[in-house]
Amino acid sequence: MDRFINDLMSQMTVAEKIGQLNLVTAGEAVTGSVVSTDVESKIKAGKIGGIFSMSTPQRIRAAQELAVNHSRLKIPIIFGMDVIHGYKTIFPIPLGLAATWDMELIQETARIAAEEASADGLNWTFSPMVDVSRDPRWGRISEGSGEDTYLGSRIAEAMVRGYQGKDLTAHNTLMACVKHFALYGAAEAGRDYNTTDMSLHRMYNEYLPPYKAAIDAGAGSVMTAFNDINGVPATANKWLMTDVLRKQWGFDGFVVTDYTAVNELIDHGLGDLQEVSALSLKAGVEMDMVGEGFLTTLQQSLDEGKVSEEEIDRACRLVLEAKYKLGLFEDPFRYCDESRAKEAILNPGHLAKAREAAGKSFVLLKNEGQVLPLKKQGTVALIGPLANTGANMPGTWSVSADLDNTPSLLEGMRSALGDQVKIVHHQGSNLLEDAAYQERATMFGRTIPRDERPEAEVLAEALAIANQADVVVAALGESSEMSGESSSRVDLNIPAVQQRLLAGLLQTGKPVVLVLFTGRPLTLTWEDEQVPAILNVWFGGTETGKAVADVLFGDVNPSGKLPATFPQHVGQVPLYYSHKNTGRPLAEGQWFEKFRSNYLDVTNEPLYPFGYGLSYTSFGYGELTLSSAELSRGGKLQVSVQVTNTGNYAGEEVVQLYIRDLVGSVTRPVKELKAFRKIRLEPGQSQEVVFDLTEEDLKFYNAELEHVAEAGEFAVFVGTNSRDVQEKRFTLK
Ligand code: IFM
Repeated sequence: MDRFINDLMSQMTVAEKIGQLNLVTAGEAVTGSVVSTDVESKIKAGKIGGIFSMSTPQRIRAAQELAVNHSRLKIPIIFGMDVIHGYKTIFPIPLGLAATWDMELIQETARIAAEEASADGLNWTFSPMVDVSRDPRWGRISEGSGEDTYLGSRIAEAMVRGYQGKDLTAHNTLMACVKHFALYGAAEAGRDYNTTDMSLHRMYNEYLPPYKAAIDAGAGSVMTAFNDINGVPATANKWLMTDVLRKQWGFDGFVVTDYTAVNELIDHGLGDLQEVSALSLKAGVEMDMVGEGFLTTLQQSLDEGKVSEEEIDRACRLVLEAKYKLGLFEDPFRYCDESRAKEAILNPGHLAKAREAAGKSFVLLKNEGQVLPLKKQGTVALIGPLANTGANMPGTWSVSADLDNTPSLLEGMRSALGDQVKIVHHQGSNLLEDAAYQERATMFGRTIPRDERPEAEVLAEALAIANQADVVVAALGESSEMSGESSSRVDLNIPAVQQRLLAGLLQTGKPVVLVLFTGRPLTLTWEDEQVPAILNVWFGGTETGKAVADVLFGDVNPSGKLPATFPQHVGQVPLYYSHKNTGRPLAEGQWFEKFRSNYLDVTNEPLYPFGYGLSYTSFGYGELTLSSAELSRGGKLQVSVQVTNTGNYAGEEVVQLYIRDLVGSVTRPVKELKAFRKIRLEPGQSQEVVFDLTEEDLKFYNAELEHVAEAGEFAVFVGTNSRDVQEKRFTLK
């Protein structure tokens, strides 16, 4: 590769090198206002290195032909898109996928996304999004793996492996792009694009590991974040992109900015376009997404001595290397096979996997009196504004989804159940009372019709339908665009108009099951008190409707576990299980004690803890045992527990292991997930689950940012979620 690139670069003019750093949109603007103009002549002039959000083999072939047949050096273009949780076959939103705790399945979903997208001409995806987030006000919590460093790291690796496969030059793989580097999930107040200010200690221990895990798994590219970090915007942050990413972690791929993030450095207050473009290049960015700051200013900066040719060369080389790794120099059209697109996209195997993934992502939050599973008989009233909207099923950031042809919950359930169950339906209420809010919450074609009649009239109609049924399924919650980019919320309740509908449905006296759509943890205190059964289905993708039927009627036993804490009240945010103890902790099970770390008006507890999720069966845990009370460095400690399916249904359980470092040179979290195992048990079946703990699992970054395991006492916890655990102690020698 080196010889080839050296040779190519020796023929390139500076303008052509700068051209390689330019990523353009050829069509509509995606999340900003800039659209490149005159793309065709720019390609011919060697001024474009990558194209954003273009698809189909025909269109991509046409653009690639311009590059390889009409530009001087015939350098192929890289084609990238946001293939986030599926391409045309859409899987659950990433937060939902995380709830499966099933790394093999997650890897398979990324593999299928790569199969489909690469068949449609693409070779680069802006995924995985690995930003740890502990603030459900932030809409983009839906696009990541939730609050936990360890779970997020394992998912980051699985996704990179799924996209990139074993061979990046294969025609059915995509180059991954880890984003958003870094700390985007910690934006202040959960407001998108906002400032991040964080200690190095917290960064290294809690927020950076998932990015590093993705890079260690071989991710070919990294995307910068929009936010600033301790005063320096990520897109101009040399410490982050050069010292941490390249020098400490040894990353050898290329860095692309987020959409117009170079231009946004002007609003961050770092200078004019020429200054910020130079800053960004010097900090370690290689490709400028859409804003064309590099294209239009770097030559002048070079002439004025503000950037060096070596800096431009470095960036150009890394972009060319990425193209080489994808095999584009060998065959620029390897992703442009029309027949493959027909076979791969939405094929039955992919749809079956989407249905399986959706079913496994659902989290059963409550099931009082075993309301669920339902019997396949009689009449079900499916009521609510989310009941018959196919366009909302794929969830946020599913740009390539065919919204018009995605079955709604009603359609999916009907097709799964046939005539075994009669389903009657009513919208029941608007999504939101305020029409303007509803418009903001249903953008990009994710519309939900409004009923402008008086609320009481609509409710009365819905209740009349509910009264005809044996059971009511209420499809409520958020629309898909109430989470995702630029969709932050300060109120985490189900919208009040829908709560009123739910109250009315409960008053019918029929059994009510809440099928909850959401892209984030919501505050469900009232619902938890009132509703007998709650199934959180996030946004499950193309096959949501069928998968909901599978779970509601017991063909699939729910096994999802929350990847993020559900608070009781928005005022508790950020609320996460791996918090510090403080010097004035509240005793376990206590509510209020004066001069302790707590609130006057609500307990410190979440409504549903991290790792929580019910099943139709029950699992019994035997006594936790350790192979020794001591762990020596270089040795291993076995932590074992016998798990038995004590109920009547076959089911899956995620056995979770947490540790606590009881005495450290710096304060340590009260619990940290360090391992988990998903097992399947038939009724009455038992399995011994054995975890091997080593010194590596006990390491953390100390005050000097050394990665160490300190001698002393540790607690190890094993259980069904982060709260309900057994505890044992051991000592690291
Ligand atoms: O990949 C996305 C990113 O996550 C948010 N801004 C736009 C990018 C490209 O669409």
